[in-house]
Amino acid sequence: MLEYIIKGGKKVEGCIQVSGSKNASLPIIAATILNQGITTLYNVPNIHDTQMMFEILKKLGGKINKKANKIIIDTSKITEYVIPEELMSQMRSSVIIAGALLGKYKRATFSYPGGCDIGPRPIDLHLKAFEKLGINISKNYGKIECFCDKIIGEKIDFEFPSVGATENAILASCLAEGTTVITNAAREPEIIDLQNFLNKMGAKIQGAGSSKIEIEGVKKLKDVNYNIMPDRIEAGTFLCMAAMNSGNIILENANPEHIISVIDKLEETGCKIKTSKNQIELQGPKKLKAVDIKTMPYPGFPTDMQSIFAAMLTTAKGSSIIVENIFENRYKYTQELIRMGAKITVEGKSAIIKGVRRLYGAKVKATDLRGGAALIVAGISAKGTTTVENIEYVLRGYEKLDEKLKTLGIDIKMQKI
Ligand code: UD1
Repeated sequence: MLEYIIKGGKKVEGCIQVSGSKNASLPIIAATILNQGITTLYNVPNIHDTQMMFEILKKLGGKINKKANKIIIDTSKITEYVIPEELMSQMRSSVIIAGALLGKYKRATFSYPGGCDIGPRPIDLHLKAFEKLGINISKNYGKIECFCDKIIGEKIDFEFPSVGATENAILASCLAEGTTVITNAAREPEIIDLQNFLNKMGAKIQGAGSSKIEIEGVKKLKDVNYNIMPDRIEAGTFLCMAAMNSGNIILENANPEHIISVIDKLEETGCKIKTSKNQIELQGPKKLKAVDIKTMPYPGFPTDMQSIFAAMLTTAKGSSIIVENIFENRYKYTQELIRMGAKITVEGKSAIIKGVRRLYGAKVKATDLRGGAALIVAGISAKGTTTVENIEYVLRGYEKLDEKLKTLGIDIKMQKI
């Protein structure tokens, strides 16, 4: 087990490079299956979740060759269509491999992803989209077998704009006969990145970023090089760290367009923010003002920033109300923040945070990826030493986090227990 030991109270100052996006990398790595060839990816973050995706590809017959920031993926010899259960249970987003296998080979077998640390993660919308595309689905002893002779373009109307289900529908219909039209599609920037990647490969997709996406099936795709977009949640996390500590931070390789809702809220708290095409600079105020947030599908406030923002608001002036509309169980971390002196009351979807003067260092446990990040944000500003246990959760999504934090002047050490 790994833990971080953070000596709080240091000013957060400096410049860092934002890594490539986790949530864009995962579907793009899956999409390399469609090509049955060689894909070169740049800017894939070296984190647990991308490693798991590579493990799955290897089990299916793919080859991965890593050279620093460049990853060469060879999917020309995929011979397996079963996503191993142990890998499926370790990373729920591995369900995205199914769409790519179906798109290319018309078959895929996988297991239910099951419940998780932030609430149930059903896949009914993914399966409904597959069924709409004419794919047969049979469920046996927890295994889901999907198969068909061919995929024919269809209309898919999502009752909720699920990110993963939209990506799976795109992957399954890229090589279909005819055109697929997705309505009420998720509009996240990561879906635009997937569209850009697939179009570079030769797919004919338009509309990503809006709620209507059209995919005209093509016969074949080609080998490409592609640069993954920056991670907007990592960028938001660093901004909150600086904001909470009256710090001054410059983020490079960051796209401010992707986090407008987060930047707007940070400005409401009193932060001064300057942006240019690939850069965001934030100067935190002496004391943050409380703000209310409610999470919504993109372009609304991202659920993945909810816990991190909440941690930041624990020492703001006044009371903040947070409403979590996307996941059912995303407030576990609040119990840990309370151990550090925060005043938070959770009721159903809402959390009320009464700002306190300061937080105090304590031994706390990460309960999930973003909840863990929230504890690190809190520990950086707390008085005294904070130990964050179970940081394996955090390492699923943040690349070289302790190294990056050290360059910002933060006193942080990782240790094995
Ligand atoms: C993706 C992101 C995750 C982010 C989330 C919401 C990746 C790898 N992960 O997750 O970081 O928090 O978007 O922005 O990109 N739902 C159903 N049935 C389904 C699918 C989803 O009911 O078949 C529900 C979920 O339970 C949840 C909501 O829809 O309540 C949003 O889920 P979804 O947009 O699918 O999130 P993910 O793609 O899993």
